[in-house]
Amino acid sequence: MSDALPTFLDERVRVLIGDITTHDVTAIVNAANSTLLGGGGVDGAIHRIGGPQIYAECKQIRETTHPNGLPTGEAVITTGGNLAAQYVIHTVGPIYGRNPAREAELLAACYDNSLRIARQYAVLSIAFPSISTGAFGYPKPAAAAISSRAIRDFLTTDNQIREVRLVFFHPSDARVFLEYQEFE
Ligand code: APR
Repeated sequence: MSDALPTFLDERVRVLIGDITTHDVTAIVNAANSTLLGGGGVDGAIHRIGGPQIYAECKQIRETTHPNGLPTGEAVITTGGNLAAQYVIHTVGPIYGRNPAREAELLAACYDNSLRIARQYAVLSIAFPSISTGAFGYPKPAAAAISSRAIRDFLTTDNQIREVRLVFFHPSDARVFLEYQEFE
């Protein structure tokens, strides 16, 4: 089913269905919370499968550069641990309704900042989950428009990152994304 899903931007962007932790890409993006110390959803899966090294590096980030936690919209990078991916890029999405005036901008920043760090680390392929659309309650149609615009805007200025995968856990989420995406 996932192979039949369309691609965008000269096939640099692929929409797929499944568990993001199984993807063999250079970097997987984690939908974290500001503590960086784990949680449920994608966060839980990445720590469970990726193992304690990821947690250890997140803890080190909390003890050094981000003692008060990672602010919403920002991103940091750690090892991929036992995952096939070399790196995990942790970003904190907005909690829907918490800051209505800035939530769209903050969600876009999650994608943009994750791609910026990926470029800094010479990442060639990166997989994103649908940030903030689970526990953080962001409406999927609005998130689709925001994430696709942010990814499109970044990729038009970058020619290093060869592949961006958007991995949806549920087929219905992929369908909503395809209906509301603004790649084209
Ligand atoms: N692979 C791909 N997508 C997944 C996976 C997975 N293994 N697990 C969940 N998802 C999907 C969810 O269905 C949802 O569409 O990822 C999207 C994001 O959901 P969450 O993981 O709940 O992330 P978010 O909404 O950003 O909330 C973050 O939840 O897990 C906690 O610690 C995390 O506090 C943070 C909050």
